[in-house]
Amino acid sequence: MTSAKAAGEGRETFTRNSGFIFAAIGSAVGLGNIWRFPGVAYESGGGAFLIPYLVALLTAGIPVLFLDYAVGHRFRGTAPLSFRRIKKPVEALGWFQTGLLFVIGVYYAAVIAWALSYFFFSFNQSWGDDPAGFFTGEYLKVGDPGVSTTIVGGVALPLIVVWLAVLAVLLLGVANGIEKVNIVFIPLLFIGFAGLVIRAVTLPGAVDGLNALFTPKWAALKDLDVWIAAYSQIFFSLSIAFGIMIAYASFQRRKANMTSSGLVVAFANSSFEILAGIGVFSALGFLAYQQQIAVSDLEGLTGPILSFVTFPAVISEMPGAAFFGALFFGSLVVAGFTSLISLMIGVSAGIQEKWGLSRTKAAVGVSVVCGLISLGLFSTTSGLIALDTVDMFANNVGVVSSAILMTIIMIWVLRRGDMLRHHLNAVSTFKVGRIWLALVGVVAPIFLTIMLVQKVWSVID
Ligand code: PFF
Repeated sequence: MTSAKAAGEGRETFTRNSGFIFAAIGSAVGLGNIWRFPGVAYESGGGAFLIPYLVALLTAGIPVLFLDYAVGHRFRGTAPLSFRRIKKPVEALGWFQTGLLFVIGVYYAAVIAWALSYFFFSFNQSWGDDPAGFFTGEYLKVGDPGVSTTIVGGVALPLIVVWLAVLAVLLLGVANGIEKVNIVFIPLLFIGFAGLVIRAVTLPGAVDGLNALFTPKWAALKDLDVWIAAYSQIFFSLSIAFGIMIAYASFQRRKANMTSSGLVVAFANSSFEILAGIGVFSALGFLAYQQQIAVSDLEGLTGPILSFVTFPAVISEMPGAAFFGALFFGSLVVAGFTSLISLMIGVSAGIQEKWGLSRTKAAVGVSVVCGLISLGLFSTTSGLIALDTVDMFANNVGVVSSAILMTIIMIWVLRRGDMLRHHLNAVSTFKVGRIWLALVGVVAPIFLTIMLVQKVWSVID
């Protein structure tokens, strides 16, 4: 094994601890928090969902986050390199994780491009009286299978802008790119989004929306699917077991309080998620109030339809529509972009380390290839169709398998648990006890295996 210490010398690092924390929050807080969490919670037991959610956070989320941090910080490489330094064949797991990042990046960028278009549409609510028809018909042209949207006014232009922005940040690197973008935009995002939520909860009908979201349906706790939804949400939302947190931790300075930073990141991410749930459902309550129907009778409470069909309808009804529309879609763009750059630096730094390329070559190569695939898929109508399947595979099957393999290999096959635990404790003020080993070595893999088997079973069935 190469000496991890020697090999890590000269590695680019974040310039301060807050830079690492903001970057990790930037990666975690993303589209998943705003458009995924509220709908998942609503469909999976409402207020009762908070129980599996918290269990998943404490038994798998935070423990696996610490595992990612320990591996990256100790072995000073992106996932493939860190795993190779631990044991050569495990490098394959790192490439599997990198593959997931690549796939998610391709569609994640498209959703950010939609949000960017909608940011501009907000100024005069260009979606008109029929946001559903506008989104799928005029904007995405889903009615005409395989037809390309036009470059200007379609998805292609915003997609090109998004990929050029990704390229710019990758070229600037960790300290000047990733760190600066997050230090500026994450506080802005939290402030802007809090403003949006305050406005939403003071709208008429907001209470009905909150009741719809938080009224507990206890029977849901008996449903395995609800538990699966909680674990998937935690993994996707915290960006764990994708190799991203390994990469970010590898860019952290050697003297760094890793576990305490992890707790801050996990707390910030979950708080943002719950805040988003409150904001989104207050706004939906308002829409139901305007239409004089019950919140449960509204359609399109999850996924792309929530953000690009239901929300435009809410915004059009709101006083100050242009301002609040721009704030909502601006938040989606910022939250999504700070996650997308984490996905892409994982891929480009991984390739850079493997083939000894310059940062510029790796960044240009990765942005151009991903950008072209994204453009090819999403400037025609195949994108929307591909999104669901790819999202399902990457987030349910892909990342769960990755987490199972990672925990079992590290703790049982290679028996690195104690070494990693001592590493975390040597640098951090919040010490992790042997309970951490039990969680990452036993509880998390058992839960995750049950989830995976059930998921694969339901797909085959
Ligand atoms: N955590 C991001 C979100 O909640 O939207 C998504 C994400 C980013 C997933 C980075 C995975 C990842 F590696």
